[in-house]
Amino acid sequence: MGKAELTRPISAKDVEEVTGIEVDLRDFSVADSSDVLDVGAGGEAVIFRSIRKDIFGLEAAEEEIDATKEKGIEDAVGAKIHWIQGDAREMPLDDESFDVVTSFFTCMYLREQESKQQFFNECFRVLRSGGEVHLWDFSIKTDKQVFVGKLKIFLPDNEVVNASYGLGGESKEQTLEAIIDYATKAGFVCEKQELKCPSFYIKFKKP
Ligand SMILES: C[S@@+](CC[C@H](N)C(=O)[O-])C[C@H]1O[C@@H](n2cnc3c(N)ncnc32)[C@H](O)[C@@H]1O
Repeated sequence: MGKAELTRPISAKDVEEVTGIEVDLRDFSVADSSDVLDVGAGGEAVIFRSIRKDIFGLEAAEEEIDATKEKGIEDAVGAKIHWIQGDAREMPLDDESFDVVTSFFTCMYLREQESKQQFFNECFRVLRSGGEVHLWDFSIKTDKQVFVGKLKIFLPDNEVVNASYGLGGESKEQTLEAIIDYATKAGFVCEKQELKCPSFYIKFKKP
């Protein structure tokens, strides 16, 4: 995958645009000693800015990695993103090498059912026993050509990030229930789910 799909401005007339979606990450934290992998880490590096420690960032699009580096976020945070270019469906990573996997509005780009299943199978493989997946995404049930969600993301220290994530074309439907189903099939246990339509947060644990 070379180009980031629709993380660029979208021009289309048949659009469902949902505004005013708030995601509060002010209380999201992980253990200092944990090895964290953020999947689809390019863009605003929201998870990195939230937890403020070294992480591994898996990202398919080289241009997204470069664009994120250019924003100077690592200097501002005072920690490092160890970038890995690769696909969430076939992660170029060793088995059982992480304690936490995060996915912030990336699962929606894995359109096909098989892709989402591969993603959760890979999360399960790279996590150590007891490891966690924290996933934020949209519930998308639109008959419009394009879906766009406009987010206001609250980070520690009164930092606020405004971001728009969207996608068009076929196979963009996604529900919280289906995501839980894929993760359960991969072996995860769902520990927490919060639906604030159209966005949701789910926490899974590897037994
Ligand atoms: C909307 S952005 C996610 C927001 C980002 N996490 C942030 O903090 O701003 C989705 C990212 O996932 C990446 N992506 C899409 N499909 C992917 C895949 N199969 N494997 C890895 N990354 C992927 C895109 O290139 C894009 O950078």
